[in-house]
Amino acid sequence: MTLDYGLAGKHAVVVGAGLGIGRDCAMTLASAGAAVMCVDIDEQRAAEVARAVTESGGKAASFVGDVTVRANVEALRDETDSVFGGADVVIDIVGLAFNFGILEISDEDWDRNFRLNLVQNFLVTQVFARYLREREIAGSIVHIGSATGFLPHIGSVAYSAAKAGLNSLIQSSAVELAPYSIRVNGVAPGVVDTPRRRAEFTDASVTASLKNVPMRRFATTQEIANTAVFLSSGLASYISGQIYLVDGGAMAVGPFPSALPETRAV
Ligand SMILES: NC(=O)c1ccc[n+]([C@@H]2O[C@H](COP(=O)([O-])OP(=O)(O)OC[C@H]3O[C@@H](n4cnc5c(N)ncnc54)[C@H](O)[C@@H]3O)[C@@H](O)[C@H]2O)c1
Repeated sequence: MTLDYGLAGKHAVVVGAGLGIGRDCAMTLASAGAAVMCVDIDEQRAAEVARAVTESGGKAASFVGDVTVRANVEALRDETDSVFGGADVVIDIVGLAFNFGILEISDEDWDRNFRLNLVQNFLVTQVFARYLREREIAGSIVHIGSATGFLPHIGSVAYSAAKAGLNSLIQSSAVELAPYSIRVNGVAPGVVDTPRRRAEFTDASVTASLKNVPMRRFATTQEIANTAVFLSSGLASYISGQIYLVDGGAMAVGPFPSALPETRAV
């Protein structure tokens, strides 16, 4: 018996598909047989991912837009419906850490942070949930959150607050949308080796970031995408309202990190 993800012939929307985690979500969904709408604010990135999906034998289209604006999310819904004739699966990976403490952050950065790390998740959820309900589609919506949504990253007060709010948005939406067979879940990464972060790595920052990670390495973008695609798939048909920590065991450490064994992952 082969493992059936139940994604063949489905229509997926990956919001923030242009880089790292989003790109791996698009490629993985396509390899499981879904057609993928590759969405990004960056036109070149959106087009390149759609091309990569098509070149690997999958079906894809691209959409360019800033999803912090409701009109753009509604245009995305209409474009997906007209190009694919439907949408069943949405994965939203858009988000960016705003590294300011409570004493420094300005009103403008607080507002920008919330638009990018929570308001756009609300817009994507509401616009696509209404669409799925109207068409009576049993769909799935997955958001990429962060471990900071469970325990704050000190020095990133607004980002942590937004990701905590995202956890609550996921749980409320899952409960309200369950009667329509719409599942809503999240993936909460710890530290991830993304192309953008890699450019910022120094020996000192890598050592500090891995101090409390039992697996002693960063997640790959593919490992985060695997979890998001699993939650979007038929294999997760009874999972809703969950936020999956994918953090190499970091959240299990507790107050005595000095007791961590000095093992290295292979
Ligand atoms: N990188 C990490 O270590 C890490 C850790 C925990 C959580 N996360 C979360 O993972 C998610 C992805 O992070 P990443 O570092 O891989 O992101 P990234 O910056 O590598 O990619 C984000 C993509 O979204 C696009 N995008 C940005 N703003 C947009 C907008 N307004 N509308 C449409 N597209 C937009 C970008 O062009 C880019 O292609 C985020 O939600 C982040 O909070 C990341």
